[in-house]
Amino acid sequence: MAAPDFIRETLEDLKAHGLYRRLTEIGSAAGPHVEIGGRRVLQFASNNYLGLANDPRVREAAIRAVERWGWGAGASRLVAGHTEAHAHLEADLAAFKHAEAALVFPTGYMTNLGVVTALVGRGDLVLSDRENHASIVDAAHLSGAHLVRYAHADAAAAARAIESRAGKSGPPDDRQSGRPLLVTDTVFSMDGRVAPLADLAALSRRAGAMLVLDEAHATGLLGPTGAGLAEALGLEGGVTASVGTLSKALGGIGGFVAASREVCDLLVNRARPFLYSTALPAAACEAARAALAIVRAEPERRGRVLDLADGLRSRLRERGFDAGADRTPIVPVLVGEPERALALAAGLLERGIFCPAIRPPTVPRGTSRLRVSLTAEHTEEDVARLVAALVAARG
Ligand SMILES: Cc1ncc(COP(=O)(O)O)c(C=O)c1O
Repeated sequence: MAAPDFIRETLEDLKAHGLYRRLTEIGSAAGPHVEIGGRRVLQFASNNYLGLANDPRVREAAIRAVERWGWGAGASRLVAGHTEAHAHLEADLAAFKHAEAALVFPTGYMTNLGVVTALVGRGDLVLSDRENHASIVDAAHLSGAHLVRYAHADAAAAARAIESRAGKSGPPDDRQSGRPLLVTDTVFSMDGRVAPLADLAALSRRAGAMLVLDEAHATGLLGPTGAGLAEALGLEGGVTASVGTLSKALGGIGGFVAASREVCDLLVNRARPFLYSTALPAAACEAARAALAIVRAEPERRGRVLDLADGLRSRLRERGFDAGADRTPIVPVLVGEPERALALAAGLLERGIFCPAIRPPTVPRGTSRLRVSLTAEHTEEDVARLVAALVAARG
């Protein structure tokens, strides 16, 4: 097969700027230790926050489901891919999120694409945090709505954006700006910050805007039952649609949205990633149900990972690292230029620790970093080892 010249030039350019990416092959199951290149290393790179990706109960649920349903779903949900396992999972997710209904998609990425494009279109307005996940940005572009990206975690900037667009305070005139939709990650994936949700919810109410939350990194972790930040703050009532993923704390694969029955009905009819893609395997649904049951039964898991992350942040701060502040399992170690982040990651790997560098365009220029993610399976000793390795690798 042939590759046009621009491809080689693009790859050379990425290499010259420290932005070339390569895959790392993992040779073992998910866990705090993994095998890379035949070597066992301690890892801080996975979103398996509660340690459920390889939990025996979750594995067993998946195996039993494969024995009952086989592996592939064979068709999209609306054709022949919808099983009792999907229906049961959606009932469980709706109960977990205190919502009327829930709808499962093949991935979290596709959930955001489906939700945003079903709710807004040309002539509408999407207000989106500047550091929202790429799937939200892509969804907004795909929707054809006017996209305004406000300063990161800054509700006042969001208010200025919506009020200037409407030309007045109060609900915007339909003919001026169409339907407004405010969308935010609740825990930001690359810096672990928590969104100013109380202020954003008040703004959406004031402006008559729909409020869509992406709770991908809050699901299973925040709130009294682990339902997310909106639950923690008692703000679920003001939310139009709450997106989550089965792929992070729930340890599997798939995305979901919790919402009113009517919103879910609209998505079944209009969300193109739902309509035109093969359903999640029933086994992934059964595994997610087992994981949800563990989230409910073992709240100590979320306490443990959040405590470990708090401990890591304060130790890093004491040693002069800029490591974020909010109580989430994501600890950013800000470095600056991509080459420095790569060098720090390589220094860790030499010391038996895997924690890859995160560089633009995933994060803004000048803010390359290591993104440390903790899991409930890590120990205090693992955290101490990471801190020592970071100090040594920093030089
Ligand atoms: C905030 C956020 N939303 C959505 C997604 C997409 O979820 P999934 O990996 O299930 O497609 C991610 C994962 O990378 C994420 O970090």
